[in-house]
Amino acid sequence: MRIGILGTGAMAAALGGAWVRAGHEVLVGGRDPEAARQLAAGMGASEGGDLAQAARFGEAVLLAVPADAAVPVVGPLAADLAGRTLLDCTVPMAPGAGGPHLTTAGTADSVAARLAATAPAARVAKAFGICHESIWTLSRPAFEGGAPLGVPYCADDPAAAALVADLVVSMDCVPVHCGGLDRAGLLEATAVFAIGVWWSGGEARRVFPSPALAPGVTDDDEGGDR
Ligand SMILES: NC(=O)c1ccc[n+]([C@@H]2O[C@H](COP(=O)([O-])OP(=O)(O)OC[C@H]3O[C@@H](n4cnc5c(N)ncnc54)[C@H](OP(=O)(O)O)[C@@H]3O)[C@@H](O)[C@H]2O)c1
Repeated sequence: MRIGILGTGAMAAALGGAWVRAGHEVLVGGRDPEAARQLAAGMGASEGGDLAQAARFGEAVLLAVPADAAVPVVGPLAADLAGRTLLDCTVPMAPGAGGPHLTTAGTADSVAARLAATAPAARVAKAFGICHESIWTLSRPAFEGGAPLGVPYCADDPAAAALVADLVVSMDCVPVHCGGLDRAGLLEATAVFAIGVWWSGGEARRVFPSPALAPGVTDDDEGGDR
């Protein structure tokens, strides 16, 4: 798969590296093309360039910039992104006294929905925003016992959903389809929630045990992709 990356920071490096290891063709694009070329060279990617080159390169395009830069970055690239799957990993979050909070107006006002309105010919998918970037540097993200990492995602477009699922499988992870873009705000809020738990010294994984542990529930009763 050909994947363009918008951004040259921590997520660009971690996910780009994972995709290169998985055999995908990656072009890193940044507002500083030289920084993009250096990052691309370091991860063994095919090349680096500017943001428009990255937007045009991929059938998939990762947006890896701060959430408040998402719409300003994508707006001028809307035509370049037509027909491509735009992978939105942004977390609209700001620190607060009681912990991090959403910077959107709520779960009905997601960055992903704003991007879909900004680039209506792109196929927007919310994905890869739950885990810390360091997870994507592992050769195979897995839990104790070898269970693979589940990667939740939201997309309206069936082709975009299928692309994300293929990409996740290529990373030895398990795709978890969470519905359409109207649910992307729930994923964004989940990321903020988990980060708040981690920042307070807790372990977010302990909050979501498998329903299979509940009395009277069998594996067959479990919904979803896992
Ligand atoms: N880090 C994580 O563990 C993690 C996990 C899940 C989701 N996320 C989300 O992933 C996104 C990227 O996070 P990150 O940790 O990779 O951030 P980062 O390391 O700070 O990198 C941000 C990148 O965005 C670029 N950028 C910022 N404003 C821009 C603008 N106006 N126009 C063009 N490029 C711009 C920066 O370019 P310059 O270098 O030129 O400033 C940099 O390349 C964020 O939305 C974050 O919420 C992060």
